[in-house]
Amino acid sequence: MNDPNGLVYKNGTYHLFFQHNPFGNVWGHMSWGHATSKDLVHWKELPVAIAEEKGTMIFSGSAVLDKNNTAGFANSKTDQTLVAIYTGHTDTLQTQQLAFSNDDGLTWKKYAGNPVLNLHKKDFRDPNVFWYEPKQEWIMAVSQPNEHQISFYASNNLKQWNHLSDFGPKGDTSGVWECPDLMQVPVEGEKGKYKWVLFTSQNSTMQYFVGEFDGTQFLEDHPSTTIHKQDHRTDYYAAVAYHNTIDKQPISIGWVNNWEYANTIPTKPWKSAMSLPRKLSVKKQGDDWVLVQQPVSNVESLRAVVQKTKNTRVEKLQDLPFFGTSYELSLSLQPLEKAVAGIRVAVGADRYFEISYDAKNEQLRIDRSHTVKGFNAKYGAIAKSSTGMKLKNGQIDLRIYVDASIVEIYSADGTVVFTSQIFPEKTDTGIQLFSEGGTASFKDIQFWQMKSIR
Ligand code: FRU
Repeated sequence: MNDPNGLVYKNGTYHLFFQHNPFGNVWGHMSWGHATSKDLVHWKELPVAIAEEKGTMIFSGSAVLDKNNTAGFANSKTDQTLVAIYTGHTDTLQTQQLAFSNDDGLTWKKYAGNPVLNLHKKDFRDPNVFWYEPKQEWIMAVSQPNEHQISFYASNNLKQWNHLSDFGPKGDTSGVWECPDLMQVPVEGEKGKYKWVLFTSQNSTMQYFVGEFDGTQFLEDHPSTTIHKQDHRTDYYAAVAYHNTIDKQPISIGWVNNWEYANTIPTKPWKSAMSLPRKLSVKKQGDDWVLVQQPVSNVESLRAVVQKTKNTRVEKLQDLPFFGTSYELSLSLQPLEKAVAGIRVAVGADRYFEISYDAKNEQLRIDRSHTVKGFNAKYGAIAKSSTGMKLKNGQIDLRIYVDASIVEIYSADGTVVFTSQIFPEKTDTGIQLFSEGGTASFKDIQFWQMKSIR
């Protein structure tokens, strides 16, 4: 599988559709797979929802709950249809199309009047639709990949669309723009206050812009040269969010992989997985708005009994008394001025995945160059990633999730996040603290084995 698609919540159920090849474990025959969950942690896979047909693949898109039957697909007065808005893809043409479900997402019919939006372009994809209350109409954000633009359209029936405006090119234009998502995100600590955030995916990374949407156009608040990354790599792409959550706080899910090597990762029979669902908010940092991401609190339901160890000063290398392949770990790190200090997970023989803070250069880094990497040269080449980050009260906080082949790291109160794939040997279960070039103190170390979800 690849991108998450059609994230929609209906009657206590979260639907997660996804780019899926029903006939193999590499990209092809793109269709929408389907899974549902009551808590965003335990998922049930359902039959393929929308299948490739007559050479038209079902590319990425969104789904909405059409409460007022604006599209006229309902069977009865009480039938609230789910409508999917996706890209129909052939080698020469991409258009926006509809499918609908009258049975809570289990089975889908393609709309006979497809396509609903056709610019006769080869690249024009990934429609993301939401209901805009003030004008009582649907808004679509859709990507013009090669122009590095997101186009906005409006509709009152999901079938006829009027062009409103275009955003971009801006920020990171190093690759084609894909998978836009525009939503209202709560401002941290200010009840009832929201900002609009626009996400785009390009070149195997994601960026976001914070500003206002007035029903016609999206304007960035502080157009700056800073590129805001949702995740600092190496494996986080095409994330989209549940907009219609009960508490109006969007929850986003990303594809944990990277197109540079996605089809060759050494897993079987499956390839690719989704990230932890993340609650989104924004906050002011100096003059700038930054995104805050935290795993949904239900993830804590997977915690086994907490294990702790005493605060410790590390001069070189020190083993922690915990082991595992699926766990959550939190700690604070106080590095000495010139030290590079941090934590190694999936440690075994001479293998490890390293998370480090470089106090001199004020950078948080990940490094997987000491993990299994021989299966693909590109995976080996994209081994390190870093971002600038200052100490807060002389320390940094780290919350780390290790789950078999995925490591997610949250720091600086959720304003800095890294997601990376690793492919450890079965015996790579150790955890170590380390410091180079000076002593470092590690505090409040807490470890939870993650309960199996089966
Ligand atoms: C992003 C993407 C989308 C497209 C889909 C095809 O990963 O390239 O732009 O709709 O994947 O599977």
